[in-house]
Amino acid sequence: MRIVLVGPPGAGKGTQAAFLAKNLSIPHISTGDLFRANISQQTDLGKLAKSYMDAGNLVPDEVTIAMAKDRMEQPDAQGGFLLDGFPRNAQQAVALDEMLTAEGMKLDAVLDLEVPEDEVVKRIAGRRVCRNDSAHVFHVSYQPAEQEGVCDICGGELYQRDDDSEDTVRKRLEVYHTQTEPIIDYYKAQGLVVTISALGKVDEVTARAMQVLGKAD
Ligand code: AP5
Ligand code: ZN
Repeated sequence: MRIVLVGPPGAGKGTQAAFLAKNLSIPHISTGDLFRANISQQTDLGKLAKSYMDAGNLVPDEVTIAMAKDRMEQPDAQGGFLLDGFPRNAQQAVALDEMLTAEGMKLDAVLDLEVPEDEVVKRIAGRRVCRNDSAHVFHVSYQPAEQEGVCDICGGELYQRDDDSEDTVRKRLEVYHTQTEPIIDYYKAQGLVVTISALGKVDEVTARAMQVLGKAD
């Protein structure tokens, strides 16, 4: 399957993507995680991306689309993928359609995670991610690590993302409403959108997602 996951910052896209990708045997492709890996490796792309991410703005389309395309062309993504955080504006959505059409492929679904703003603020405020891999995600009260400050998965140090400060989160939410939300209508016009509530326990949300994707047991 080829799936796009959308939802506001802190909705739980990364958390759900980890389970859905495993259940569906497809790779989880997160542009945010790819940028953070570049930042920790201090690449030129990482240096460029960091300045935009820390301000809560989108990284320019040109580099983002090239990075996403490169990842989607890897052998493990040929049978399908779960995109998390891409596309994030109209230009990226059009670029993705063009990429897929050129390969004779199409999306199967766009999964829209709905969460009230006060809940995303709580989820982001308590989020801790692993220094080794930002896809290893915890929450101080909702999903605490067994040992405080230590990643259950790899033993890495847990920290608060630089863009999780109150001001940057406000900016990220504004960018989501103005630039990302409109792509939901773009995909609705293609009949691809399935919307679920992302409230409740992580496994309940996963079960809801599997159900609307037609993959429930
Ligand atoms: P990105 O990393 O994509 O951030 P985001 O979209 O803002 O999403 P988040 O990672 O904040 O949240 P999430 O929905 O994955 O939630 P999570 O699962 O962690 O992008 C960061 C930046 O990179 C952007 O601002 C931009 O600058 C740049 N960028 C990325 N892609 C780009 C693109 N395509 N174009 C241009 N720029 C781009 O969950 C949040 C917390 O809640 C966690 O602590 C988790 O444990 C907890 N939680 C999850 N589910 C539940 C639950 N059901 N109940 C209770 N707690 C829960
Ligand atoms: Zn880890």
